[in-house]
Amino acid sequence: MARGTSRCTGSSLDSSLVWEGSWRPERDPVGSIIPPIYLSAIYKYPDEDKAVKPVVGDLKYSRENNPTVLLLEESYSCLEGGKWALAFNSGMAALASVMLAHVTPKSRVTIARLVYGATRSLLASLWKRIRFDYNVSGPPWEDLLDAAEYSDIILVETIANPTLRIPPLHELLKACRDTCRVIVDNTFASPILFRPLEMGAWLVVESSTKYLSGHNDVAGGLVAGQDMDDYKRIWEWRRLLGTAQQPLDAYLVLRGLKTLHLRVERASRSALEIAKWLERHPKVSKVYYPGLPSHPDHDYAKKLFNGIYGGVVTFELSNGDPIRFLSRLRIIAPAPSLGGGETLATLPYYSSHRGLPEEEKARLGITPRLVRLSIGLESVEDLINDLNEALRHG
Ligand SMILES: Cc1ncc(COP(=O)(O)O)c(C=O)c1O
Repeated sequence: MARGTSRCTGSSLDSSLVWEGSWRPERDPVGSIIPPIYLSAIYKYPDEDKAVKPVVGDLKYSRENNPTVLLLEESYSCLEGGKWALAFNSGMAALASVMLAHVTPKSRVTIARLVYGATRSLLASLWKRIRFDYNVSGPPWEDLLDAAEYSDIILVETIANPTLRIPPLHELLKACRDTCRVIVDNTFASPILFRPLEMGAWLVVESSTKYLSGHNDVAGGLVAGQDMDDYKRIWEWRRLLGTAQQPLDAYLVLRGLKTLHLRVERASRSALEIAKWLERHPKVSKVYYPGLPSHPDHDYAKKLFNGIYGGVVTFELSNGDPIRFLSRLRIIAPAPSLGGGETLATLPYYSSHRGLPEEEKARLGITPRLVRLSIGLESVEDLINDLNEALRHG
C-alpha cells in the first residue's frame, strides 16, 4: 500500500482492522496466513534507474525501510485513523525523532507538566542546545489552554502518569485551530480508548513497549499522522539517527496489535473493579482512576473514551511503609512499565518522577506513599487477594 492512501475500511477496532491494514495471505507466494519476518538488511534495486534515483520509502536498506516494519506501520496507521505511521525502536526514539524533525530555534513548544519524565528531560536537553521558546504548563488545565496563545507545538499525554489526569483535548484543539499543532502521546490510552487524529491532533505518538505489543517482551515506539510532508521529515530523522524498529521486534508488536482490543478491555474492566475495591479499603487514603466519579477528570473521561478507562490505577497508602508493601506482594511484581499481561507496581515518587524537585512533586500529588499499578490479565480475584494481603501486613 502506498503511504498516504488508506486502505482501511473496517470500522471496529478489532483484529480484522489490524489484519486488513497489513497482511493478506494473497500477498504471499505460498499463501502464508502469518506475515513473514524479513530479516534481510538490504534489498536489490527493482531496476537500474533506482540505483541512481532513490526514493523515500523504497526498499533498499533496513535502517530506512523493512517489509515487516512497513506491515506494522500500515496496521498502526489504520488503527489510529492516520494516513501514515513510522515505527521506532522505543517510545523515546519516536519522540526524539519527532522533536528533532520539527523543533528549531524559532519554535514555541509547550508540554504538559505531567508528561513522562524522560520526555520532559528530552525537551529540556534539546532546549539547552538550541534555546527555543520552551514552556511547561498545566494542570491546572486552564494554563495549558492559555498556552495555545503563545505556542506552535503542544505535547500532551491522553492519560498522564501517575495521577492519570486527562487534558481537555477538545478545548485545546479548538483553542489551537491553525496556530498550534498538538502532539498526543496516547501510550496509556491506546487507540482502543481514543484516537487523537480523528479529533484533529497533528501527530499521535505511542510507546509500543506498553499496550500495543502487550507482552513485556519488546521495546518500540510508533508515530502516526495525516500529512505526507511530516512523514518525510520524520522518516529522514529516523534514517539519520538509526532509530527504526528492527524486524523481529516489529513482528512482535504487529502480533500484539491483533489482541489489543481484548487485552485493553480486560485490563480496563479489572482496573475499574480494583479501583472501586481500593477506594473502600481503610488503609488506602486516595485512589486515582479516571473511571471513578471521584477522579477530577472523570466527566471528561466519560465523554472522551468509549466506556472503558485503561489498565492503570494509582493509589496512596494511608500509612505504613510503601517499600514493605511492595515486598509483601506475591503475584504483582514491583517493576516499571505498563500495558503488559503481568500486573506491575511502582512507586512514582522514587522511580518515574524522582528527578522532579520536591515542591513540584508535592504540587502534582506525587507523595512517597503513592503506588501505581498496571493491571494485567490475571484473575481480578487473585489480584485483589494479593493487594489485600500486602495491605494487611504492609
Ligand atoms: C507516556 C509514555 N511515553 C513515552 C514513554 C517512553 O517509551 P519507551 O520506554 O518505549 O522508550 C513512556 C515510557 O514509560 C511513557 O510512559
